[in-house]
Amino acid sequence: MDEIDFKDDNMTDSRNKTILVSEEDIYKYEDELLVLEKTNQAEFKDNVVINQDLLLAAKYIPKKSIDLLFLDPPYNMRKKYNETVFSEKSYKEYYNLFNQWIDVLLPLLKENASIYVCSEWRTSSIIFDILNKKTIIRNRIVWQRDKGRGSKNNWKNNSEDIWFCTMSEDYYFNVEAVKEYKKVIAPYRTSSGQAKDWVEDVNGEKYRLTHPSNIWTDLTVPFWSMSENTSHSTQKPEKMLAKLILASTKVGDRVLDPFLGSGTTAVVASKLNRKFIGIEIEKEYAVLALKRLDMAKENTRIQGYENGQFLPRNVKTSQE
Ligand SMILES: C[S@@+](CC[C@H](N)C(=O)[O-])C[C@H]1O[C@@H](n2cnc3c(N)ncnc32)[C@H](O)[C@@H]1O
Repeated sequence: MDEIDFKDDNMTDSRNKTILVSEEDIYKYEDELLVLEKTNQAEFKDNVVINQDLLLAAKYIPKKSIDLLFLDPPYNMRKKYNETVFSEKSYKEYYNLFNQWIDVLLPLLKENASIYVCSEWRTSSIIFDILNKKTIIRNRIVWQRDKGRGSKNNWKNNSEDIWFCTMSEDYYFNVEAVKEYKKVIAPYRTSSGQAKDWVEDVNGEKYRLTHPSNIWTDLTVPFWSMSENTSHSTQKPEKMLAKLILASTKVGDRVLDPFLGSGTTAVVASKLNRKFIGIEIEKEYAVLALKRLDMAKENTRIQGYENGQFLPRNVKTSQE
C-alpha cells in the first residue's frame, strides 16, 4: 500500500508557521539528547528525549513506573521517516515487530496504567490481535481526519483508530476533564422558565458539556498555518494528546511515548504538568521535539482547548 501523506506544507506562503530543524538547532540541542547505555535505573530522570531504538532504550527505564503509554508506531505501509524508509510488511512480519515492541514496553507500566495505540484500519487488525492477548481493550476511538486522498473506485479513507486499553480493572479515567462543548440547537426551558440542561457562554451561545464518545470529529491534522505544525509528516494534533492525557492521568503522572516523532506527546504532557519520557530513533525528529519543548516553556496553549474546554473543530480562538 502507498504511504498516506496527509500533510500539505505550503513552504512559500509568508503565513507558514511550520517548525523546522536547522543545522544550528542540531548543534544547540544535540547534547541534551539522551542515549541510554550505562544509565543506572535508580538515576533515571524524567522529562527527557532519548534518541535511540526503543528496544534498546526500554531496558534502562524503570519497571512499573509509567502511568500512560501512548503508541503511534509506523503503520503497516510504506513511509519515509526522515532518512529511513519503513516498508509494508506481511501480517506475520508486522505482527512480530509490534509484538516485540509491546513485550519490552508493557513491563514498564504500573498495574493501573492506561495505553493508547494509534493505527489505521488495516494495521488495526494486527494490533487488535496482540493487544487483546496482553491487555484489557476498553474501546476503539475512531477519529476523522479532515483531509484524505479521494479515490475513483473506493471510499475515501478518512478515519484512523486509537485503541484504548488498560493493564487491569483498576485504572484512572477523568471524564469531567474531557467533556465536549456542544451547541444546543433546541434550548428547552422548564415550566418555570429555567434553562434545561444548558448554559450560555460569554458570547450568548447556548451550549452544554456532554460525555465524549468514541467518535472524534473535532481534530484538525496540523497544517502549515497552524503554530503547532512541524516538518514531521505524521504529526498528531496536540488536541488529541490533550484529551488522552487529561482523561487518563493526573497532574504529576508519567507519560511514555516511544515513537515520539516531532514531540507532540512530550509537549502536551509538559503543558499539562505531567512528566514525560520520549524515545525517537531519528536524531532530527528528536531535536525537533526538544525545540518544541523549549517553545512550550513560553506558550502553554493547546489549539482547540481553551479554559478547560475542548472546542469544536476549526473554531477561531485567541490562540491563532
Ligand atoms: C508515526 S510517527 C510518530 C509521530 C508522533 N506521534 C508525532 O506527533 O510527531 C512514528 C515515529 O517513530 C519513530 N520510530 C520508528 N521506529 C522506531 C524505533 N524502533 N524506536 C524509536 N522510534 C522509532 C519514527 O522515526 C517516527 O518518527
